Amino acid sequence: MTNTLYKKHLITISDIGKHEAELVVTTARKMREIAVGKGASDILSGKLMTALFYEPSSRTFGSFIAAIQRLGGAFIPLQGVTYSSVSKGETLSDTVRTFASYSDIIVIRHPEVGSAGIASEFSPVPVINAGDGVGEHPTQALLDFFTITDRFGKSEGLTVTLVGDLLNGRTVHSLVKLLSLYKKVTIRLVSPAILRLPGILLDRLRELGVNVSEHTLLEDVLTETDVLYVTRVQKERFTDLTVYEKLKRHYVITGETLKQLKKAAIIMHPFPRVGEIAMEVDLDPRAHYITKQMQNGMFVRMAILSLILRKEVT
Ligand code: NCD
Repeated sequence: MTNTLYKKHLITISDIGKHEAELVVTTARKMREIAVGKGASDILSGKLMTALFYEPSSRTFGSFIAAIQRLGGAFIPLQGVTYSSVSKGETLSDTVRTFASYSDIIVIRHPEVGSAGIASEFSPVPVINAGDGVGEHPTQALLDFFTITDRFGKSEGLTVTLVGDLLNGRTVHSLVKLLSLYKKVTIRLVSPAILRLPGILLDRLRELGVNVSEHTLLEDVLTETDVLYVTRVQKERFTDLTVYEKLKRHYVITGETLKQLKKAAIIMHPFPRVGEIAMEVDLDPRAHYITKQMQNGMFVRMAILSLILRKEVT
């Protein structure tokens, strides 16, 4: 397979076509062999990654650090960097230029939509978007896609139900775009009326001919669901916290929910969870958010770093 990701930025999931998705899935499987086998490799030895995080993160930050280290590379960890408006331009560009001169790749998380794209314009080294406000989170979508295809062997023919804050959830925005590459996938969107998927994204799915529908009741679509993708209500995006308080536990997955879900279905969540999935669900074999999705995050980020930093497909 040709490595079309070599030296490229990864800013939006629109940078990924079917070829790249397949490239990431195939490489992530090899990375899993490395990680669970020898534990490490030296294919990225001599490579340095800057992790520039203006917003909190545990899993994304930690799995990128784990990924580069398992491949023999090193990192500059910058967490809790003081936020300054991208619209003012200067600070972000200066910061990006600074760390681009020290390192081979920059992974950035920032509260403003479009910030990673702006960073890439100033950066002579590749930039990976690790979340830009309510915009996108392409590496999360790739790890979610890997989790789905690894479990089912495909994504076509599946019904994927996304539930929760579809308006503000950037993981949802990137994942539905990625799934829409595969026309035979069925997407069910379940949210309170004020947290519906942005209209522009919904229109795009419809234009692409994806079988998609919106619902307020999870019960309407639960029995047909193969992948139940649960998300938290994004507190940090609310100006009025009383609205957040009313919505935060709108959908809670419990042992009762499981009774209606197919035996072969899987439950996913990008995490952190704040009560959307009851702890009792964790013990169920369908709880892939515990058993697969987190580890897959590291394998997929190993794959992405390796594909962007090396021409060879491992
Ligand atoms: C997500 C994010 O930051 O968008 N978390 C993550 O990267 N795993 C989801 C969330 O914060 O709800």
